[in-house]
Amino acid sequence: MATTAPTSAPSAPTAPASNASHDKAAAFAKGLEGVVGGMTAVCSIEQDKLIYRGYEIHDLAEHATFEEVAFLLLEGHKPDSRELERFKAEIVAERALHPAVTSFIESSAGWLASGRAVPMDVLRTSVSILGHTDEDCQDNSGAANLRKAKRLLAKIPTIVGHMQNVIDGRALIGRELGGDPSLSHAANLLYMMTGRRPSRDEARVMDVSLILYAEHEFNASTFTTRVVAGTLSDMHSAVAGGIGALKGPLHGGANEMAMEMLKEIYASVGEKGIGTPAVDAWMQTAFDTKRKLMGFGHRVYKNGDHRAGILMGLGKKMAATLPGTFGGLAAPKWFELGEQVQKIMMAKKNIHPNVDFPCGMTYFTMKIPVPQYTPIFVASRITGWTAHIMEQHADNRLIRPLSIYTGPAEKKWNS
Ligand code: ACO
Repeated sequence: MATTAPTSAPSAPTAPASNASHDKAAAFAKGLEGVVGGMTAVCSIEQDKLIYRGYEIHDLAEHATFEEVAFLLLEGHKPDSRELERFKAEIVAERALHPAVTSFIESSAGWLASGRAVPMDVLRTSVSILGHTDEDCQDNSGAANLRKAKRLLAKIPTIVGHMQNVIDGRALIGRELGGDPSLSHAANLLYMMTGRRPSRDEARVMDVSLILYAEHEFNASTFTTRVVAGTLSDMHSAVAGGIGALKGPLHGGANEMAMEMLKEIYASVGEKGIGTPAVDAWMQTAFDTKRKLMGFGHRVYKNGDHRAGILMGLGKKMAATLPGTFGGLAAPKWFELGEQVQKIMMAKKNIHPNVDFPCGMTYFTMKIPVPQYTPIFVASRITGWTAHIMEQHADNRLIRPLSIYTGPAEKKWNS
């Protein structure tokens, strides 16, 4: 993910002028902070609980598979064994891509190599092209939406895998079938990116990370998908918008930036500096320069992100079993550095890590290329997005808030 910081706004907002503006000012919250934007049966976030359709996230991470969670989110209830087998077969059957999408991915090699496009951009455009190839594209009925949601769920890992093959200059893995039909969603995603079938532990860690990323209420990207769907636009348009919103480093792009930050700390302090005040000094400089540390903080959670501890625990446990070095460091050392950074952040700023922080270390020690972390997030969050798009279409009202005018006072064109 390579997004440069925005430049400052053309003019700073000034105080509202009229009474009507004062009424609006009373209701105004910058960034819609604390504003209730709608109702949903898909997910509930409380300070002490994250729930997908009635099931708490620790319970799901421990006992469910990603396919079960995807069914829960899309079809609205926990699947029985027959429903699950049917769902898995439907997804596997839809994994392969239309040649138009495959050719686009192949043609994007130069843009990816030059850095003009990052994988999130290629994924966003691929989803748009998928829309052209989907016979249900313009049909917003519940049945058509469910069919499209399943196709998107099935095909996004294939896009991610093919894209990585293009980046690595190898033949597309699983071109005909979209991978290996015997593999789970998580295992197949890893297989298609690398050509190597993952171990059970690797597949399970990926599976749990997909469960954790699947859904999160009215976050920025999900809200984007609902705004697009609220105009009665189609699912592919809404998902393309969601991908654009997720790409930003303040949202999903933070999982890539969190790892880039850890690499930067390691490059600065060296292996010997880990566990020493050298890391404190690096962070103090970041605080002094008002730098935002990626993978920390959250708009809603103020006492910590429920998902972060789960992924940290799993990633660290797996890292202890991994031989060799990763970017110059043994896998457990990355987690040692990460834990030190977390401790300093808590002690000095009282800010908790969010799920993107352990994700960075976990995917890095699974040898997943950093620019694919946010596309993998999409491979999971597509379930939450499409569940929300279906919910929006089923009981729609255009989403259209107000704004406070801060421009010049009225003047005559011919004065
Ligand atoms: N690093 C340093 N300081 C931080 C951080 C951080 N990551 N997050 C919050 N703060 C500080 C702010 O500077 C601010 O301090 P101040 O009051 O002295 O100005 C205070 O904490 C409150 O922070 P806000 O920016 O007002 O919090 P907001 O709710 O607007 O932002 C956000 C939430 C965007 C997630 C923010 O914490 C952030 O930028 N984090 C880094 C990016 C990140 O990790 N995003 C992933 C979020 S999870 C997800 O999308 C999957």
